[in-house]
Amino acid sequence: MNPSPESSSSIGRRSESIASTGLVLGIESSCDETAAAVVRYGRETLSNIIASQIATHALFGGVVPELASREHLRNIVPVVRAALAAAGVGFRDLDAIAVTHGPGLAGALLVGITYAKSLAYALGKPLIAVNHLEGHIHAVLLEHASQQQSPTSPILALVVSGGHTHLYLADCGDEASGGVWQYRNVGRTVDDAAGEAFDKVAKLLGLPYPGGPWIDVLAPFGDPKAVPFAFAQIKTKHRAQRAGDLAASPKMLFSFSGIKTAVLRYIEAHDLKASIEARRLALAAFATPKVDDARALCDSQTLNLIASFQYAVVGDLLRKTLRAAETLGIQSLIVTGGVAANRELRSRFAAEASTRSLPIAFPSLALSTDNAAMIAAAAWPRFLAKDFALNSLNAEPSLPLQ
Ligand code: KG4
Ligand code: ZN
Repeated sequence: MNPSPESSSSIGRRSESIASTGLVLGIESSCDETAAAVVRYGRETLSNIIASQIATHALFGGVVPELASREHLRNIVPVVRAALAAAGVGFRDLDAIAVTHGPGLAGALLVGITYAKSLAYALGKPLIAVNHLEGHIHAVLLEHASQQQSPTSPILALVVSGGHTHLYLADCGDEASGGVWQYRNVGRTVDDAAGEAFDKVAKLLGLPYPGGPWIDVLAPFGDPKAVPFAFAQIKTKHRAQRAGDLAASPKMLFSFSGIKTAVLRYIEAHDLKASIEARRLALAAFATPKVDDARALCDSQTLNLIASFQYAVVGDLLRKTLRAAETLGIQSLIVTGGVAANRELRSRFAAEASTRSLPIAFPSLALSTDNAAMIAAAAWPRFLAKDFALNSLNAEPSLPLQ
């Protein structure tokens, strides 16, 4: 995917022996977190600094791209300095700089890319371009590697976050690929990402942004079977055109915009708008609302709705992922991305995988959501393969992982 290291325009291309310290500085700025981390040999996290912009965007109920870029500009230098200081290393100790170049918000990505390019150029170190989705998969591989384990191939990875819901077949690179991991997209959402649905439904119910964690903590107080949400079979016109393309099979497609509309219809049909507005205003009055504050402001009907929504979304993710695993003869499962922090998701996936004797791995909670340790870890095989970025590296908001 990335340009050949032989190109004379690779940033900081070096002719001397490849690794001296094994230290990679990772930089991540694809959405609303400015993050930097130092990881050694792709398996030892020396530092992992994240400047969250949640407070900035919470006022608007979602990420405002222009504000995200401005916050990244403000944060990038102090965050990188903090990552180096926490790791106890200097710029000169680094073997390479790795940066997310997509997918994500164009302006936000550009802040990280421009900074990383300048740094690599000034230091004469290689720059490595990392796909954000590959980063989420490597969040799990990083933690496995630090425990001297690695999932058995073929691996099925569910990347489920605010911007993405994708299934990938992931394969540890062989000699032919220069050791760089290979991915094949075998499932995707046709509309909203699962995390987007969590956030939008939470907003519809007057809960703070981002809504996923709020739904997670409130769902156990409701009855998950109270509102029977159904997922219709997805029809796709691509099916015939793209025969052989697993990701085009309706069985491997997700759709989460329908359930969001179903929640809205429920709110309208049950006259919940006034109580939702009262909840929104009451929660806005708290500097940092606690779970008990939110729970006290939710009646049992709302808690049932929250529990039923989460039960339905997790169930759909689970059914389709397991079906894909069976169809593809998978040996191990990875579930990663912000929504992988969800407790019901973790416990139901773990239970079902266990009944099938299918090894399953999640990132720690700290590495489930966006971070730069996963970017530095994903860069390591590319560093060894001398898969360095060119001077012309640009933001790719819709970059696919393949
Ligand atoms: O991976 P991430 O930090 O950013 C993207 O790459 O999109 O994921 C953020 C998403 C948000 O939609 C957030 O609501 C969701 O992950 N999320 C959760 C939980 N924690 C974060 N969703 C459900 N339950 C959680 N505990
Ligand atoms: Zn992400």
